[in-house]
Amino acid sequence: MATFAPPPGTADIFPEEARRWRNLEAAAGAVFSRYGYGELRTPIFEYTEVFQRGLGDETEVVQKEMYTFLDRGGRSLTLRPEGTAGVMRALSNTDVLNGVEQRVYYHGPMFRGERPAAGRRRQFHQIGVENVGRIAPLIDAECIAMLMEFLREIGIPDAKLSINTRGVMPDRGPAGQLLRDYFGSRIHEMCDDCKARLERNVWRILDCKQEACRKFVADAPDYVASFSAESRAYFDEVKAALTALGVEYTVDPLLVRGLDYYVHTVFEVTHTGLGAQTAIAGGGRYELFLPGQNRPVQGVGFAAGMERLLMVQDALKVNPAKEEPTPVYLVGLGAAARMANLKLAGELRRAGMKVALELEERSFKAQLRSANKAGASFTVVRGEAELEKKIAMVKTMADGSQSEVPEAGLFDTLLKLTRQSAGSNI
Ligand code: HAM
Repeated sequence: MATFAPPPGTADIFPEEARRWRNLEAAAGAVFSRYGYGELRTPIFEYTEVFQRGLGDETEVVQKEMYTFLDRGGRSLTLRPEGTAGVMRALSNTDVLNGVEQRVYYHGPMFRGERPAAGRRRQFHQIGVENVGRIAPLIDAECIAMLMEFLREIGIPDAKLSINTRGVMPDRGPAGQLLRDYFGSRIHEMCDDCKARLERNVWRILDCKQEACRKFVADAPDYVASFSAESRAYFDEVKAALTALGVEYTVDPLLVRGLDYYVHTVFEVTHTGLGAQTAIAGGGRYELFLPGQNRPVQGVGFAAGMERLLMVQDALKVNPAKEEPTPVYLVGLGAAARMANLKLAGELRRAGMKVALELEERSFKAQLRSANKAGASFTVVRGEAELEKKIAMVKTMADGSQSEVPEAGLFDTLLKLTRQSAGSNI
């Protein structure tokens, strides 16, 4: 074991990579705010009941994957496995239960005790959106269209969108019975997980990955046809709106999603640039119950896995990790020159410039090597002789030319030179 590796399923994000993460977050903020969404930051941990009640005791996430612990006062807390339940807990303090709409987005770490694999982490990061308080097919369609627009904006124009409907809660009884009858007569040939799912949560059979079960799933009855006319009309309107918005989709009757709070529209976005973990984003409309409340919060939203977005970007060669260049490097020979350089660096940095310099005694050659490594366009060289003459040598790295600049004009000259060279790079 490498001694300083982070725990399995977690990762360190170094500065160059962190730039890519910030780019994703900035693009999300830019796109979502055009649709009227504002950022909401909620705690990383919540009372365990928020997830137990919110996601439902039967979901795999709640049963097997939560990081739950007791705090010093003996209260059970859980690291958030997803963002929706915490966001609903926060928004329930507003007027959403009275039909007042709230549009929020969030990004940050989520925690699930899953088996780590490429694209599957125990600490992963989501960018998510929730539109809460209102129910309308056009809201669902707008939300999906916004997700596809965000993906285009970050250089992923070719993701595949699948949609389905889960109907409303009263539809689930008859449709669930239809599926139980069908799978019940075949269950002896199906996997042990599906045997357990038959009574507990028959819908989960639809996304079983086992070969033996897939062949039965493929011929499962059309349960959507048994949904109420109202639910089917809702779904038709979502589809019509997506078509009107020019959003391409495939209807996938096997798409039920892993969380139990969904009603009506569900959707998932996949990309071939990922390996086994093909889902880059998923979401849908939901009715989420909070502890102690018997009226659910209604909303629609989605979350995209940031690690997976970055993997797709890698495959498509967009948003590469690259360090911001350092335009100016200050070379100092001798203690007095270093001190003068430290002062000048402070002034330039306060003026908004990225500056690097050597703060210890090192040879001229070594300092020039550092200047090259930093990608400096200009290097300022000062030693005792220059200090005495109240000048500095300014070297243009591109052509090796040098000029003497009086100390008093050094700050302005460097500002001017770097602005010119930034302009010529555009
Ligand atoms: P979810 O499908 O569980 O939905 O997660 C959404 C996305 O998070 C997935 O499509 C995937 O990209 C990413 N993801 C999930 N688990 C992992 C993991 N272990 N490692 C890496 N990435 C992962 C939700 O979480 C819902 N709260 C979405 C939602 C919001 N529905 C309505 N509003």
